[in-house]
Amino acid sequence: MHRLLLSKWTKAAVFIVCLVPLGALVERALHGGLGANPVEFVQHATGDWVLRFLIFTLAITPLRKILNLPELIRYRRMLGLFAFSYVCLHFLTYIGPDQSFDLAGIWKDIEKRRYITVGFLGFVLLIPLAITSTAGWVRRLGGKRWQMLHRAIYLTAICGVIHYYWLVKSDIREPLLYGAIVAILLLWRLGDRILKKRRLAPANAGTDRVPANVS
Ligand code: HEM
Repeated sequence: MHRLLLSKWTKAAVFIVCLVPLGALVERALHGGLGANPVEFVQHATGDWVLRFLIFTLAITPLRKILNLPELIRYRRMLGLFAFSYVCLHFLTYIGPDQSFDLAGIWKDIEKRRYITVGFLGFVLLIPLAITSTAGWVRRLGGKRWQMLHRAIYLTAICGVIHYYWLVKSDIREPLLYGAIVAILLLWRLGDRILKKRRLAPANAGTDRVPANVS
């Protein structure tokens, strides 16, 4: 398994799989399969995939620790960038075919409709993460600051779930399911941090007792 995850072919295969939702949309568009309201169809499909890719990205750390597969980290950046690409498509569908690039109208909509406001916030929060996703930016910011910044992906996922919850009219099962998954991932991260601090505390207490002049 470790070797499979380290293979560049596996990474290429995952990349292609991540393109399948987009390919399916293009295929439908070419064959008139987008239904009576194509804009709505694309908005819903891309919106769903943004949330799924955010969840895949957030699941990498728990999975690599639980399954003892550190190589999974190689896939996190790619999945995060796919979440960003799908949200760009989602946003473009909104500003273009839906709002006809009427910037004043779009801004009014962002201010007026709460589900648009929170979706927009989630999108804006992802922009610096996409920009700083390269190794060069990790070096420039330093590991700790980079990690702090990239925790914003949790806020984006929370905004995405609220956005979905607020926009559905009756059946709230799906947004609630996404919300539960995001909550579990968040709680796992919190639990992991608490355990790590507890494990480090006795070790630190031990080093505190070492006199300063002993090196
Ligand atoms: C991280 C950010 C975002 C996520 C995770 C997200 C996710 C979603 C999801 C899951 C849906 C519903 C899909 C379905 O019904 O199956 C949706 C719909 C929609 N989203 Fe987003 N979205 C985000 C950002 C945005 C932004 C920035 C805008 C526009 C400013 C936007 C506008 C819309 C619209 C107009 C719909 C369709 C609403 C309707 O049909 O009533 N979203 N989005």
